[in-house]
Amino acid sequence: MAEEMQKGPNKDGLANTFLIAVFLCLICSIVVSGLAVSLKPMQQLNKELDQKKNILRAAGLLAADSDISEDGRTVEEMFADFNVRAVNLDSGEYTDVVNVESYDPIRAAADGTVSIGLSEDDDIATLGRRENVSLVFIKTNDAGIDKVVIPVRGFGLWGTLYGYLALESDFSTIAGLGFYQHKETPGLGGEVDNPKWKQGWQGVQLYDEGGQPAVDLVKLRSPVNSDASRYEVDALSGATFTTRGVKNLVNFWAGDLGFGPFLQKLKAQQMQASVGGQH
Ligand SMILES: Cc1cc2nc3c(=O)[nH]c(=O)nc-3n(C[C@H](O)[C@H](O)[C@H](O)COP(=O)(O)O)c2cc1C
Repeated sequence: MAEEMQKGPNKDGLANTFLIAVFLCLICSIVVSGLAVSLKPMQQLNKELDQKKNILRAAGLLAADSDISEDGRTVEEMFADFNVRAVNLDSGEYTDVVNVESYDPIRAAADGTVSIGLSEDDDIATLGRRENVSLVFIKTNDAGIDKVVIPVRGFGLWGTLYGYLALESDFSTIAGLGFYQHKETPGLGGEVDNPKWKQGWQGVQLYDEGGQPAVDLVKLRSPVNSDASRYEVDALSGATFTTRGVKNLVNFWAGDLGFGPFLQKLKAQQMQASVGGQH
């Protein structure tokens, strides 16, 4: 009798073990893919919220260590003051060819049909390609445009730095610069995240008198109140490559191949409006 029972199906046999392993794998993969699909909308919302915070921080409207403004406004409330527009970088005109809710300029730069290849001489930020259409974030108040925030990116030492540059209402005075993603070394190039260094960007002039991008990152500052000092930010010590990368990326996106044409148009419109207002 005992012998007969031993001859029944062997639960510890290889086939059974294999079957259970396959079954467990199947259950696990169903659970993991189910979670991935169901969490995707939440991840997307978090990503968008994060970008809004980065834009607000670059504009100096949100402290680095806070998710709420000094007067108690949430990120969503503050971001509602911004108008998100798509801009044709070549013409500097607003465009409706893309949906600003879903458009990704960085992804567009990798698509040869909606971007241009940059020549070695032009490509000071080491981008390879530049999207035809990008996004701008515009904050208005009763007097008109209060701040403009533009996305910027460029190569440092270890990889591309991604960030936002905010300008005051004259479209030349820098309100702030912040990077939300980079691969620079903490303590060296990673000092781009140091709030003290970031503060040094406030009030710096993006364009010289001739309208050319003129930001310079220097080890030795020019005398206070000198002409050159208006365009200067401290270099990052021990990080020459990151420093050069940051200078180049800011000047690239301020230039003719970046948001230069758009910012010039805004300035011309503002001047026209002020002349019109005087009549
Ligand atoms: C492990 C390691 C990490 C480094 N990370 C950076 C960096 O993130 N950015 C940078 O510009 N230089 C970095 N450097 C230093 C550069 O290789 C180079 O020495 C430096 O940019 C020279 O800067 P200095 O002329 O201001 O001293 C790193 C060096 C080492 C050994």
